[in-house]
Amino acid sequence: MTDAKKLFIKTYGCQMNVYDSERMAETLGVQGYVQTQIADDADMILLNTCHIREKAAEKIYSELGKFRSLKDAKPNLKIGVAGCVAQAEGAEIIRRQPMVDLVVGPQSYHKLPQMEAQVQAGYRALDTDFPEEDKFDHLAKRPKAKRGPTAFLTVQEGCDKFCAFCVVPYTRGAEVSRSSERVLAEAADLVERGVSELTLLGQNVNAYHGHPGGLAGLIWQLSEIKDLKRIRFTTSHPNDMDDALIEAHRTCEKLMPYLHLPVQSGSNKVLKAMNRKHTRESYFSIVDQIRTARPDLLLSGDFIVGFPGETDADFEDTLDLVRQVGYGQAYSFKYSARPGTPAAEKGEVDPKVAIERLHILQALLLKQQYAAQASMVGRDVKVLFEKKGRKEGQLIGKSEYLHAVHAFAPGDMLGQVVPIRIIKDMTNSLTGELL
Ligand code: SAH
Ligand code: SF4
Ligand code: F3S
Repeated sequence: MTDAKKLFIKTYGCQMNVYDSERMAETLGVQGYVQTQIADDADMILLNTCHIREKAAEKIYSELGKFRSLKDAKPNLKIGVAGCVAQAEGAEIIRRQPMVDLVVGPQSYHKLPQMEAQVQAGYRALDTDFPEEDKFDHLAKRPKAKRGPTAFLTVQEGCDKFCAFCVVPYTRGAEVSRSSERVLAEAADLVERGVSELTLLGQNVNAYHGHPGGLAGLIWQLSEIKDLKRIRFTTSHPNDMDDALIEAHRTCEKLMPYLHLPVQSGSNKVLKAMNRKHTRESYFSIVDQIRTARPDLLLSGDFIVGFPGETDADFEDTLDLVRQVGYGQAYSFKYSARPGTPAAEKGEVDPKVAIERLHILQALLLKQQYAAQASMVGRDVKVLFEKKGRKEGQLIGKSEYLHAVHAFAPGDMLGQVVPIRIIKDMTNSLTGELL
């Protein structure tokens, strides 16, 4: 028997890429590849890339540079670029990077088997189409192997919102929802393989329309899977937080009290220029409704500072919004002009000013995050234990609020949801004890 070919995948960007990498590995698994964590051992290296900010895209080219000597030493090594940089710059990669054998866009990776054969035959392969068919229908069946207690499940892809700064509508294409039958079947299968917590993914997951009841309808149906204990979803657009979803946060016990609801800016002028189609007031109103439905919900957000035209007063509005809302967790970024997006045509804020604003905002958000975490001490939570801790006898998992919690607990509690009292805040995680 010949040795199996080895596949090394490196994943950048959002959780959808994490899910896609898993599916690509399974698809190439059928072609005889097993995954390795060591690039030097690989017969194929696949970079699953992100194009969201300039830095993310640049990383790919420096990473490719690093693999050049590996390829010189091992001429049979195949190098592939997948994901959003592949979609945005695929033809150019093929032109400018002779070492790259294969370029596959996010909507085409069901074609990997044919592309791999082409590459093995000595040709280079490029596919960045947005095909009519749904790639998920054409992928290899998922294997039956046991797996860890948490999993991502993509239910919706693409975006029709066209925020003025964002490449996603171009790299992932128009919004498409998978049918609820398919999602339910995949979920049931994952649960059978040991998954207790599912995070439903979509660039605009709450715009999901593959179920007559929308995302809330899907969540209610998923909650009927007996051994599925927890459901989460990300990322949501404020305008798609409908009443049914808010109601699900009130009444669906399996839906976790955590919501990632990006707002990007607190200034109505900037929101308008960003084409976000919501105002600060409408955001406040949605947050109020959700918190009325689920008072303990931990809110997370995304922010961009230094969007073209953002003044000191606009930035003050963002700080004010953050103070009023109060986030338990957040991501903030300096605006990065992306080729082909409408905002890229506009004059930029002085980079020094933008960096200064980013630091001020991040300090405020971090203060809120630490305060939210510290407020957990003395409270009882439920933790889904995901893995062993560094100390003997310790397990690590996540609370309902996505806080990392470690506690001394018997090993057979791995994969279980266990009541825990939080006794100490360790800044990056919480210490708990069994109740
Ligand atoms: N679909 C999600 C976000 C996807 S991108 C949503 O609509 O909320 C993740 C985050 O990256 C965005 O929320 C935004 O904060 C940030 N982002 C997107 N484009 C960016 C750009 N050009 N410059 C800086 N940050 C950006
Ligand atoms: Fe990008 Fe806006 Fe769509 Fe989010 S809603 S993916 S930020 S265009
Ligand atoms: Fe990046 Fe593409 Fe996700 S651009 S954030 S990997 S959708």
